[in-house]
Amino acid sequence: MSVMGNTGSQTVEQAVRAALAKVDDPEIRKPITELGMVKGVTVSADGVAHVAVYLTVAGCPMRDTITSRVTEAVSAVAGIREVDVELDVMSDEQRTELRRSLRGDSEEPVIPFAQPGSLTRVYCVASGKGGVGKSSVTVNLAAAMAAKGLSVGVVDADIYGHSVPRMLGTEARPTKVENMIMPPQAHGVKVISIGMFVEGNTPVVWRGPMLHRALQQFLADVFWGDLDILLLDLPPGTGDIAISTAQLIPNAELLVVTTPQQAAAEVAERAGSIAMQTKQRLAGVVENMSWMELPDGTRMEVFGSGGGATVADSLSRTLGAPVPLLGQIPLEPRLRECGDSGTPIVLADPDSPAGTALRDVADKLATRARGLAGMSLGISPAGR
Ligand SMILES: Nc1ncnc2c1ncn2[C@@H]1O[C@H](COP(=O)(O)OP(=O)(O)OP(=O)(O)O)[C@@H](O)[C@H]1O
Ligand SMILES: [Mg+2]
Repeated sequence: MSVMGNTGSQTVEQAVRAALAKVDDPEIRKPITELGMVKGVTVSADGVAHVAVYLTVAGCPMRDTITSRVTEAVSAVAGIREVDVELDVMSDEQRTELRRSLRGDSEEPVIPFAQPGSLTRVYCVASGKGGVGKSSVTVNLAAAMAAKGLSVGVVDADIYGHSVPRMLGTEARPTKVENMIMPPQAHGVKVISIGMFVEGNTPVVWRGPMLHRALQQFLADVFWGDLDILLLDLPPGTGDIAISTAQLIPNAELLVVTTPQQAAAEVAERAGSIAMQTKQRLAGVVENMSWMELPDGTRMEVFGSGGGATVADSLSRTLGAPVPLLGQIPLEPRLRECGDSGTPIVLADPDSPAGTALRDVADKLATRARGLAGMSLGISPAGR
């Protein structure tokens, strides 16, 4: 609906549309033109572009971002003097259409990572004991992989003890479009946690079936897009969630975190050997809090030594295939401070001993060829 009927202004209008095709929706990360978000474009004779944009939901937290992205892109078009952005909200039909175009027609939630041919590598970070550093390891691996340019998602599957959003420094709430949940991003990592759905610090008191349902939702209803890596931060122990995860994503691999302490190692072994029953692959073992470097350069082994190697050896024996010790992460006050302040140490202090060790583990996990990971834990006769 160009005001001027001549070809000159049509070209400007086309140029505006071409510019809009380069504007991505900040959450879905696809061009707004493809998502049906451009309601209309007109260019007046005096070079004012009027762009009407549909938001997916009313009160969309990204409205300002979208407005400024559109303004910036259209301002750069030759012949445009001013940009006027008008926001509207999609109708239910339009949202349904958008969902269809993003996820196909299926009404049933589908877990993309469990589909044959999925290229996403899924790692479940597990331990036997609590407090050994699963969440710290998870967020640091995720941030390090995202910094390498990989598309990374994290599910905080520790429903009772959710701590991932804090460690990644986000208080954002997910946006809901139809039945899709848009995950907030922090340090380039898409993250979803039960902590984002409860008020303040309310404890979550759920039973097994509800936990299973919550995890299923996190995996199926969240719009993750094409992920290279998905990390799940599991609660300590060998409980419901570990089994649910194995059922929901059979191709997920287990990453076992332990401290050097022998008692912790024994419990970690049990967590690892659950893979035997669930037939999951074991990606390897990470030993955390391995030692503290003293000012004189010596290492103080606060929690003893050898736990990581013990777990790796023992799991290798149990499973009959090598399970690597992927790294030893020193105990470093900076690591905790970085976690508390919401910037993982691999970003805040990448060359620190802990940052270096964590980045090294991230490299190993990111570059491993899929299918060579660990081994097939098929204990069915046909498996070997
Ligand atoms: N290598 C390390 N150096 C110093 N502090 C660490 C290290 N690893 C973890 N921590 C700190 O130890 C505490 C426990 O770590 P974290 O929360 O990551 O463990 P977790 O295994 O996820 O615990 P939970 O079982 O409660 O979920 C945190 O305060 C964390 O900052
Ligand atoms: Mg934790």
